[in-house]
Amino acid sequence: MSNALAPAALTAPAALTTVPKAPPLGAVRFGQRVQRAVQALVNRMGPPQFVLMDLVAQRWRADALGALVRLGVADALGDGPKDVDSLAKSLRLHAPSLYRVLRALARDGLLTEQDRRFGLTAVTEPLSRRHPSSMANIVSELSSARNAHLWARLGDVVRTGDGAWPSFADGDLWSWLDAHPEEHAAFHGAMRELTREGAPAYARAFDFGAHGSVADLGGGTGYLLAAILAVHPKVRGVLVDEASVVAGAGPVLAEFGVRDRCEVVAGDVVGGDVPRGLDVYVAKNLAHGFSDERLTPVLARWRAAMRPDSTLVLIDVVVPPAGPYLGFLDLQMMIASNGGLERTPEQFEAVLGKAGFRLERVVPTPGPMSLIVARPA
Ligand SMILES: C[S@@+](CC[C@H](N)C(=O)[O-])C[C@H]1O[C@@H](n2cnc3c(N)ncnc32)[C@H](O)[C@@H]1O
Repeated sequence: MSNALAPAALTAPAALTTVPKAPPLGAVRFGQRVQRAVQALVNRMGPPQFVLMDLVAQRWRADALGALVRLGVADALGDGPKDVDSLAKSLRLHAPSLYRVLRALARDGLLTEQDRRFGLTAVTEPLSRRHPSSMANIVSELSSARNAHLWARLGDVVRTGDGAWPSFADGDLWSWLDAHPEEHAAFHGAMRELTREGAPAYARAFDFGAHGSVADLGGGTGYLLAAILAVHPKVRGVLVDEASVVAGAGPVLAEFGVRDRCEVVAGDVVGGDVPRGLDVYVAKNLAHGFSDERLTPVLARWRAAMRPDSTLVLIDVVVPPAGPYLGFLDLQMMIASNGGLERTPEQFEAVLGKAGFRLERVVPTPGPMSLIVARPA
């Protein structure tokens, strides 16, 4: 394990980004219930065969939107509507084909269209990388050729119970990403975008401020830890992830003005050592990538690095006994990871118990994930 960014060498810029207030949980849940009710009504109003057709056509929409991002069209339209021919010329694209893609999206209500000029709408503006709430990486990642390959094998996965990853590449996702820089940037950019939406809530759902130090294990480029440190100004942080990932942490920590309180460590949180003796250990969207069998020794390794009074905070989807949850993320894990799954509270309790932890509580948030708080047993 090596220090990728020695804290002593860091300056202490003033906080540039403040963490917005998280919306109240009740209001978010109410809004989601209304949205689902409206969608159910819309589904009931149309002839079922058309509703169904529209549902499966979402894949075409996703692919078309992904192409706009990857081809640079969305960024170009981020500056305002453009004529299709000059757009094709400046981006070296085939104008008639580009026109057909833009026309299809515009007639679907996802772009504006006037003569041969096309522009983004409120829904598609975040496709531009310069948008403050850009979703460009998520769109690119979910519509990637890799995910298309893996999801096309859903039938095999259900037939055999084995994930589809070995049909795509040797090694694991992380080593594959290391060898594919564009996809590496899209994946970790997508994680940052996803985390950005929930971080204001996650940073406040646990009283990190009552503790002195927080490690974020597999913390990506540091968005969540930066938000935690910005909300809790007395806490010090340690960000741990692979070297190729933490290499992107500097600007994120600087954006929040927390570089002087955060050590950045390139290390292996799965098979190697993690920092010892800190107060709180956070791991967001790590546990769901592993079967119980594979997760247990990882958690046990973390447990061994913790003090008896340290706290473990996993942040993941918690599957409720009934009602909505991010079910398609569970399927993504089933297909693309090696035995990963989203867990019920009982499943978390069981796997934590096997690794020497006691589940203390599950804290729901307005984001899609909950905090699973555990202590050494
Ligand atoms: C699903 S991403 C979650 C990233 C971040 N926690 C978030 O929620 O935005 C999983 C992270 O675990 C990291 N990771 C996977 N295996 C690792 C290992 N053996 N050592 C260190 N980090 C690892 C990946 O590089 C990636 O950043």
